[in-house]
Amino acid sequence: MTNKITVMFLGDIVGRPGRWAVKNYIASLKENKPDFIIANAENASHGFGLTRKNYNELLECGIDCLTSGNHIWDKREIFEYIDEADKLIRPINYPGGTRGKGYGIIEKNGLKIGVINVLGRTFMGLVDSPWEILQNAVNEIKEETPVIIIDIHAEASAEKICMAKYFAKMGVTGIFGTHTHVQTADERIYENCCGYITDAGFCGDSEGVIGMEYETSVKRLLTSIPERLEVAASGKNQINGVIVTVDVLTGKTEAIKRINVQMNVSEENIIMKG
Ligand SMILES: [Fe+2]
Ligand SMILES: [Fe+2]
Repeated sequence: MTNKITVMFLGDIVGRPGRWAVKNYIASLKENKPDFIIANAENASHGFGLTRKNYNELLECGIDCLTSGNHIWDKREIFEYIDEADKLIRPINYPGGTRGKGYGIIEKNGLKIGVINVLGRTFMGLVDSPWEILQNAVNEIKEETPVIIIDIHAEASAEKICMAKYFAKMGVTGIFGTHTHVQTADERIYENCCGYITDAGFCGDSEGVIGMEYETSVKRLLTSIPERLEVAASGKNQINGVIVTVDVLTGKTEAIKRINVQMNVSEENIIMKG
């Protein structure tokens, strides 16, 4: 048996187009499916939050663990199921006593993978400092597995890079940014062990504004009056993320590749590019 596995991480899934694209993309990989798939689902249900139905739907299409972010609380029903959703991770740096969990250790085919979700603090809501909380979580997970992935859900690139450099020194396997929905082209490996990208991007409609409709998005800016945002649905969709090759004995990332694929709907046919 080989010691190498592949772990795919997908950026924020936005609404129905995002769920459709992810489901069809994973199905299209057939025998080349990665060993483990993580995706950020904070926008999966109509652009805001995650319903129980969509949580189950995303797991059924082959995703092994879902991370989230500041939009995790947007659907009220999250409070009905988050405590029993063992494959859903919410940001770890909410105050003590917050429902759900900030990290999880997911077991698949005899392998354990630790997944942590954390919120940055620049231009973000008020949350606890992530540094000590993350150190403790990494140390706890290390007692069970060397493979540790962190989804840092943050606005500021500098904050994400600092966190990546700091936790790469602790031997973390991968630190992948989410939240801006715009994929950066800076994928790299820190400390010969930690795969990194400032932002993985998003999965959803590629023709709108970070997954939402242009008309309502621009009206907000033109009028300064709050406008309900709608999910864009042009039929042109993108899959954004990264895939890393990991040595499961050491937990080190050996290669990282950016994913930027177009998944378009055209008269019942799926057209894939990228
Ligand atoms: Fe998002
Ligand atoms: Fe977000």
